[in-house]
Amino acid sequence: MGDYLRIEGLSVHFPVRKGLLQRQVGAVKALESVTLTLKKGEAFGLVGESGCGKTTLARTVLRLVDPTSGSIWFDGKNISDLTGTALAPYRKRIAAIFQDPFSSLNPRMTSGQIISEVLQVHRYSGNIKDRVTELLSICGLAPRFADLYPHEMSGGQRQRVGIARALALDPELIVCDEAVSALDVSIQAQIINLLEELREKFDLTYLFIGHDLSVVRHLCDRLAVMYLGRIMEMGTSEEMFSNPRHPYTKALIDAVPEPDPLGQEGKEHVALAGEIPSPLSPPSGCVFHTRCPIAMDQCRSTVPSLSRLAGHHSAACLALETTPEPRTTVAHTN
Ligand SMILES: Nc1ncnc2c1ncn2[C@@H]1O[C@H](COP(=O)(O)OP(=O)(O)O)[C@@H](O)[C@H]1O
Ligand SMILES: [Mg+2]
Repeated sequence: MGDYLRIEGLSVHFPVRKGLLQRQVGAVKALESVTLTLKKGEAFGLVGESGCGKTTLARTVLRLVDPTSGSIWFDGKNISDLTGTALAPYRKRIAAIFQDPFSSLNPRMTSGQIISEVLQVHRYSGNIKDRVTELLSICGLAPRFADLYPHEMSGGQRQRVGIARALALDPELIVCDEAVSALDVSIQAQIINLLEELREKFDLTYLFIGHDLSVVRHLCDRLAVMYLGRIMEMGTSEEMFSNPRHPYTKALIDAVPEPDPLGQEGKEHVALAGEIPSPLSPPSGCVFHTRCPIAMDQCRSTVPSLSRLAGHHSAACLALETTPEPRTTVAHTN
């Protein structure tokens, strides 16, 4: 199976304007030369700290934000410069689930009305009421939920309604932006299980965005780690966890609050110092060099490219290019 969704050299810069004349004084570089591909049926995870550009990527794929440069190919077609009616079929084929169903569901509408609205807008030809009942049931909600307003439901139930709405038009690709991040841990697990079931049942492809690595790992076949608008490392979830290579990925994995049942053997603990720099003026060279524990002189001036390490694993790090193999023994340097 070839590339299903291909994001090619995507950059999104938001202009910053000032003064009476609204002159552009700078730009927030939310995404910088992002390239990644999803295969059909795959669950692809995108992780990184808040502000690294995840939502911008989601919104660009959903064609809610225009790329500054680069392109988005879906099922063999460049959708990044389509507008109006040319975009309509893709609005059906690509759906979205957002973080906070409370703010993405209209509080004055019942679940039934919320789901019907999508069907009506896209001129659904079948019986709308039946379809709503069916969608609720697919998402584990009894028919009576059609008459409830968002505030009458729990967080998990609201997210089920959000998922039912996303499924309404039989999409192929679902962009999930922090879809479970606002939920309690036990509810998160239920929603993750539901998403897994649905993927199987409807042959869905997911672009799953989250900041919680352990959640994303559970659902996704492959992961990309982003920092300040750039991809730092990409690989199968398995590879990324068992053999993270980029110092940023290592730091993120270290931050996952999980006991290490295998002991600390071979594990390098990397604590991240400092704050994320502003995307208004990202650091020169490797954007991570200001916080990187292994930064070298050249990292200040040279932008590392995402290069292949082994198999499907790749990372953007100059230090890795000079020490290609992972250390198998722990070096005791202090
Ligand atoms: N519409 C916008 N206008 C200006 N800046 C924006 C806009 N949307 C996002 N940003 C900025 O782009 C950067 C990336 O934001 P976002 O994509 O929301 O990150 P994430 O979802 O990873 O937290 C942030 O610095 C954010 O403030
Ligand atoms: Mg976000």
